[in-house]
Amino acid sequence: MNIGPYALANNVFAAPMAGVTDRPFRQLCKKLGAGYAVSEMVTSRRDLWDTLKTSRRANHEGEAAPIAVQIAGTDAQMMADAAAYNIDRGAQIIDINMGCPAKKVCNKWAGSALMQNEALALQIVEAVVAACLPHGVPVTLKMRTGWAPGHKNAVSIARAAESAGVQMIAVHGRTREQGYKGLAEYDTIAEVKAALRIPLVANGDIGSPEKARDVLAYTGADALMIGRAAQGRPWIFRELTHFLATGSRLAPPLVLDVKRLLLDHLLDHYQLYGEFTGVRTARKHIAWYVNALPGGDAFRSRLNALEDCRAQLAAVGEFFDALGAQADRIPAPADGLRGPADKQAMNNDKKTEQAAP
Ligand SMILES: Cc1cc2nc3c(=O)[nH]c(=O)nc-3n(C[C@H](O)[C@H](O)[C@H](O)COP(=O)(O)O)c2cc1C
Repeated sequence: MNIGPYALANNVFAAPMAGVTDRPFRQLCKKLGAGYAVSEMVTSRRDLWDTLKTSRRANHEGEAAPIAVQIAGTDAQMMADAAAYNIDRGAQIIDINMGCPAKKVCNKWAGSALMQNEALALQIVEAVVAACLPHGVPVTLKMRTGWAPGHKNAVSIARAAESAGVQMIAVHGRTREQGYKGLAEYDTIAEVKAALRIPLVANGDIGSPEKARDVLAYTGADALMIGRAAQGRPWIFRELTHFLATGSRLAPPLVLDVKRLLLDHLLDHYQLYGEFTGVRTARKHIAWYVNALPGGDAFRSRLNALEDCRAQLAAVGEFFDALGAQADRIPAPADGLRGPADKQAMNNDKKTEQAAP
């Protein structure tokens, strides 16, 4: 499958998750089989572009192509400027965020709240497409099924966006009002697919190979996007692509391989964030990796006391060495998804940002 000139390795993608899908995590997902990965959202507010947070998000050093950056905002000209700013910093694809229900974004009518104002949503799409066109940069859109259960307008917005030049659309099968509650539904996604000629990506609650197969078949989608199920389990991409290609499940990864890839993930993470912020923001990733493993709960509570990279790396190494002494492979995961955003973990990240020297 292609987005503009970019041929993608496969049709199982990593979903953008603010505070999670930073460059190290995206790289890892791509290395472990994701056909495509979009950045965390970058604000269209120019006054925030020089903050450490935004400059980290706009840093794509060493990232495998295509580099896709998601932008969020409420003003067409500001969104067009944000597209140009990110293209200057290496973005090869620009994704418009109409999918995120976060209050911080929605109070200002950005993210999924934009679906409530179709005229403004379309103005933004047109302005971003116009800004990207001279650079040959494709524009994609991520949205929900609508803004409330009685107001599912994904088909209408998707049609308008396609006419305006958007080249791929991803739909999360929940309304904005739902947040992450209830179940994702795939009927609206199937309707959007049927209404479009451009590729459609189905998203929401996909956490097992069988579910991936069923959602593809039910919706007719061209691709899938995986969010929460990839937290602490970035090898899910190769598990899904293998199953979709062969109909058989891969064995869970070797404990030794997970130890190695987590330690590499941590080193890359520290390099981007530095020691103070890196050690603290890595805790949630480590917690996700060990979440369902024997001894994981006790280990998670020990983690918070470790405040430097060496101690954190050593503890992670010891945890996996002890696990490896009991079993070659990590236990097969339960197919359910863990809770939406790990709120405590995200709040801790905010505190870290404020306390960073
Ligand atoms: C922690 C977190 C952060 C997210 N941040 C974004 C974001 O920045 N932009 C966006 O479009 N969606 C964002 N999402 C929504 C996901 O991309 C995805 O649509 C949603 O989690 C449903 O997919 P899943 O069931 O596979 O997790 C976020 C979700 C989570 C859990």
